[in-house]
Amino acid sequence: MKSKEVREKFLNFYKKKGHAIHSAVPIVNTHDPTLFFVNAGMNPFKGILEGRQKAPNKRVVNSQPCLRVSGKHNDLEDVGNDTYHHTFFEMLGIWSFGDYFKAEAIDWAWELLTTCYNLPKERLYATVFEGSKEENIPKDGAAKKRWQRFLPEDQIVWGNKADNFWEMGNQGPCGGSTEVHIDLRSEADRSKIPGHKLVNQDHEEVIELGNWVMIEYYRRENGELTPLPEKHIDTGIGLERLAMVLQGKKSTYDSDLFLPLLQRIQEKSGQIYGKERKTDCAMRVISDHIRALTFAIADGGMPGAQKAGYVLRRMLRRALRYGHSFLDFSSPFLYALSNQVVADMKDAYPHLESQKSHIQATIHQEERHFLSTLSRGLVHFKRILSENPEKKELEGEAIFTLYDRYGFPYDLTALMAKEEGI
Ligand code: SER
Repeated sequence: MKSKEVREKFLNFYKKKGHAIHSAVPIVNTHDPTLFFVNAGMNPFKGILEGRQKAPNKRVVNSQPCLRVSGKHNDLEDVGNDTYHHTFFEMLGIWSFGDYFKAEAIDWAWELLTTCYNLPKERLYATVFEGSKEENIPKDGAAKKRWQRFLPEDQIVWGNKADNFWEMGNQGPCGGSTEVHIDLRSEADRSKIPGHKLVNQDHEEVIELGNWVMIEYYRRENGELTPLPEKHIDTGIGLERLAMVLQGKKSTYDSDLFLPLLQRIQEKSGQIYGKERKTDCAMRVISDHIRALTFAIADGGMPGAQKAGYVLRRMLRRALRYGHSFLDFSSPFLYALSNQVVADMKDAYPHLESQKSHIQATIHQEERHFLSTLSRGLVHFKRILSENPEKKELEGEAIFTLYDRYGFPYDLTALMAKEEGI
C-alpha cells in the first residue's frame, strides 16, 4: 500500500465515523510562544483543548507534518543511528473535542488497524497507563477493560508515566494515554521471547504505531495539574511507521516516503545504501533533515542566527557535515534534494510546489556559506585532537573557536567529539 493510500484510507475511515477532515497548519509555529515548531498534531487545537476556543467540529481528523527537533520532544540525536526515528514526520491525528472518550477511541483504533489496514491481531500490543502516585492519578482500568474485548491478557501491557502520559510541552493540556505497538520479529524470534516483554524496550522490531491520549488535565507553569472543563481525545499515528509496516519493511527509510530520496543521494554520491553503517547513517540523516528543511522553509521558516532560525541552521549544517565527512560531498548538494521532497509530497501538500524555487535558493545560499568554512573548521578540529590524542574532553575555548570562527554549532561539535570518543 503506497503511503498516499495509507493517508487517504485513514482520513476516510474517520470521516465515516463523523470526523471533519482538517488541513494541516504551517509547521513553523508563529502563534504559540511555548513552541518553535509544530511538534504534535494537537498544537493547532491547543486553544480548544484548554477550553479557550470553541471547536468548529467536535470530531476532527487530519494529517499534520511535525518537527521534533527542539524542546521537550526532540528526536534529533536518534535520527540516522536507528531505522525509525525522524525529526520530521507526518502525524495522522484524530480528535474528539468534548465528545466521545476512551471507549470509542479504543474500539475504532482496533477497527482501523485490523479491518481497514488488516494488521495481524496477534502481533499488536496495547499499553495502558499504570497511574502515578506523585501526580495522584489512578491506573487506567477502564482502558484496560476496553482492550480486553479485543486482546488477550499477554497483549496488554501497563506503562509508566514516561511512556503513557503525554504532554505537549512543560505547560499545556495533557493526560494518560494508551498506545498500540507492533511486533515485527520473525516467528522464530517471537517463540523465544514473547512480544510483551519487548514493548517500550527500544527494540527496533517491536515499535509503537500510535498514541491515543485522553486529555483531561492542564499542566500549569508551576508544575501543578488541574482538571480541564471537558475531556478530549488526541490521537497520533506516525505515517512513516504505518507505511513501513504496510509495505512489509523493517525500516521507515525503506518505505516509499524515503526511497526516491535515498535513490537521489546514492546517485549524487556514488555510494550504495545498505553497505556500510557510516554511509547509511549519513544518508538517513540527510534524507530526514532535507524533508524537515523543505517543509519548514515552505511554511515560512528561515535558517538564521536565533531561535527557530538557528534550529534550522543547525540541522542544515549537521546534514552538510554528514555529507561532507561520510559521502565525500564537497560542493552544495542539499538544495537539489529539496526538489525530490517537493515531487514526493506535493500531492498531499500542494503549497510545496509554489515554494520550490524559494526553498532551493534559501538552502543553496546557506550551503555555500557554511561550506566556505566547513573544511577549515574540520582541519582545525583534527589539529586540536592531534595535539593530544589522549584527550577525553574538549575545552570550552576550542568549542567557542569552532563556533565563532568556523560556524560550527555547539551540538555539531559535540557530535563530532562523540564520534572520536570524546
Ligand atoms: N499528542 C500525542 C502525540 O503526539 C498524540 O497525538 O503522540
